[in-house]
Amino acid sequence: MTETDRYAVLTRVGPGTPMGKYMRYFWHPVAASVEVRDDPVRVKLLGEELVLFRTPDGKLGLVQERCPHRGASLSCGMIEEGAIRCAYHGWKFDLDGKCVDTPAERPESKLKDRVAIPAYEAMELGGLVWAWLGKKPAALLPRFEYLVGEQYDHDMTISTMPCNWLQIAENNMDPHHVEYLHMMYTNYVFKRQGKPLLPMKHHAKVDFDLFEHGIMKRRLWEGDSEESEEWRVGHPQLWPGTLLVTYPNGVLQAQIRVPRDDGNTTIYWYNARPRPAGQAPRKEVPVAENPFLGPDGKFLNENLNGQDMMVMLTQGVIVDRSLENLGESDKGVVMYRRVLLEQIERIERGEEPMGVVRDPAENTPFIPLPVETHVDYDLQGVDAAPGERWDRMATKAAE
Ligand code: FES
Ligand SMILES: [Fe+2]
Repeated sequence: MTETDRYAVLTRVGPGTPMGKYMRYFWHPVAASVEVRDDPVRVKLLGEELVLFRTPDGKLGLVQERCPHRGASLSCGMIEEGAIRCAYHGWKFDLDGKCVDTPAERPESKLKDRVAIPAYEAMELGGLVWAWLGKKPAALLPRFEYLVGEQYDHDMTISTMPCNWLQIAENNMDPHHVEYLHMMYTNYVFKRQGKPLLPMKHHAKVDFDLFEHGIMKRRLWEGDSEESEEWRVGHPQLWPGTLLVTYPNGVLQAQIRVPRDDGNTTIYWYNARPRPAGQAPRKEVPVAENPFLGPDGKFLNENLNGQDMMVMLTQGVIVDRSLENLGESDKGVVMYRRVLLEQIERIERGEEPMGVVRDPAENTPFIPLPVETHVDYDLQGVDAAPGERWDRMATKAAE
């Protein structure tokens, strides 16, 4: 296989592709819980166009969007007890995708017995709806501490990015970009705006370690001791492409990258905020849009997440990796690509990839993850506290 072929393997996620098969060993979020209320929601995951809905008794349905009769979208359908009914001619599908009613046909018609649509398992955890598009039986949905830890309140923003998932995930296997994109470039922007500059830091070294749920990324800043948490502990890139990172205000942020198809990715910027003592737990997990363009159509280039989105998108829809010139500082990216290809080889040998959770004992009460608890520089990656926009979204969701 040529280098170019290998990259094609890593970026294509549709059904039947090697990476598509790998991705189907993991649960992926398809919506925030608050987005799934009275109406069906169109979602796209791993190249499959689907409809997500909540039945009156609270069950979740996730089925192919297209009605197999004459193609109307079930996103316009009528939700019923344990089923969804197409708006066009009333065909009804249960949560397993089986057609159970074709009301325009004669009662003795056997047509419905021959018809079914793909239907998938969906479940909620941490204010997200997660889907399993893989083979059954489904693996356990990992109960990572950042999702279920009782010490946290959660909120999230969502970005829909018109580019391939891999270049987004590779960003985190590239610690050096923090020094340039998030420090040097920020200061370039701040200087032009007459704002005070950030202190610069320099990487002394970086390293990466494989563990069951992903790859630990560690960095040592010049002048720090090897006892610094960023070197001793670091933070993980979880399979298949979720970053977990701590911010100076104590917020733990999971950046969950979900491939919608080969050229589009949804990022859930999922925040776990330590709840102040004596404060009641928040009942819902609010959600807001995380934009990458300002009203003037320019990239939002002043904060960490906006800067990352700027460079990921301008790399192209799918990075042409045959044109790259990699250096020593790209060793994390190289490792990540190699390890992903090894996971695909495992599947081809009939084994499961790393990080698939099948043992309930491992998943109970939660799976702890190594992550540094302290970083001493503030790159404005997450709001200091949930502000007005969350309240606005919560109000909207409750309407
Ligand atoms: S197109 Fe759905 S019932 Fe006819
Ligand atoms: Fe970044």
